[in-house]
Amino acid sequence: MDINTIGVCGAGTMGRGIALTAALAGFNTRLFDLQPAALERAKEQLQKELKKSIEKGKYTEAFAAQALARIEFTEDIDACVGEIFIEAIVEQAEPKIALFNQLAERNHSDCIFASNTSSLSITEMAKAIQHPERVIGLHFFNPATLMKLVEVVTTPFTAPSVQEIAWKLMQDFQKTPVLCIDSPGFIVNRVARPFYIESLRLLEEKKAGMQQLDRILTAAGFKMGPFALMDLIGNDINYAVSCSVYDQLGKPERLRPSSIQQQLVQTGKWGQKSGEGYYQYKSG
Ligand SMILES: NC(=O)c1ccc[n+]([C@@H]2O[C@H](COP(=O)([O-])OP(=O)(O)OC[C@H]3O[C@@H](n4cnc5c(N)ncnc54)[C@H](O)[C@@H]3O)[C@@H](O)[C@H]2O)c1
Repeated sequence: MDINTIGVCGAGTMGRGIALTAALAGFNTRLFDLQPAALERAKEQLQKELKKSIEKGKYTEAFAAQALARIEFTEDIDACVGEIFIEAIVEQAEPKIALFNQLAERNHSDCIFASNTSSLSITEMAKAIQHPERVIGLHFFNPATLMKLVEVVTTPFTAPSVQEIAWKLMQDFQKTPVLCIDSPGFIVNRVARPFYIESLRLLEEKKAGMQQLDRILTAAGFKMGPFALMDLIGNDINYAVSCSVYDQLGKPERLRPSSIQQQLVQTGKWGQKSGEGYYQYKSG
């Protein structure tokens, strides 16, 4: 199957970065979101990101303008026609399944459905969709335009041809794909969970402060400390992932999500995207 048009659903932190990655690789891209404001913000953020890249000499103005022009921003699901869809909507199984089923009604039966979920079961999603062999996980990392790694997550249903197409597409995106068997949190989010949870425990137990922990861990070689990183990811997303991995692994005490995370989510302190999380940010 030749991929000409890629649909990206959800124009938030991840979706907009995935859409730009696809457009930079030369693909016609449709970025779909239910919220017109999210699409507006995505366009502004992408313009800003491209401007920075031009200033750094990474792209010429013409190349950046052509890439942006390849993205169609739409809130109309009927415009969502393509060979592959990558969803990056809210981290809940039901809306993701409902979206894939809506897309299935509007597309050819061999159109591929990829989820960028951080932790939900791709297998359960596949089971709820007609032709489960076309469902796969493509887990990008934040920021999606810069981070090279993509976990390519297969289920017992995934067709080898679908895996092959997804793998090749990630290479076309200039990414480094790694193959993962579907399991809670895949590889990176499972390994990374204690990084966040243990840091939150130290904070809860008043053994260390937040800035101190971020400073120490960056001094130890991590690119970002846990609290700055949770704010970049989005505390709503990070909390949802913590709960999902904890539940799916049988609620081990060592992975119990923190009440601090829950409190931040409930008070709208979602991190960089809302203007405040563990830290304060100038603009949301
Ligand atoms: N934030 C991260 O660092 C990160 C990293 C890897 C994967 N992910 C995963 O990517 C997904 C999205 O995360 P995010 O941080 O970009 O979220 P986000 O909150 O920044 O954006 C989600 C967007 O989806 C839109 N949306 C919600 N329901 C929709 C629907 N039914 N149809 C179309 N659009 C809809 C919202 O309006 C919003 O603009 C989640 O599954 C998350 O686990 C996130």
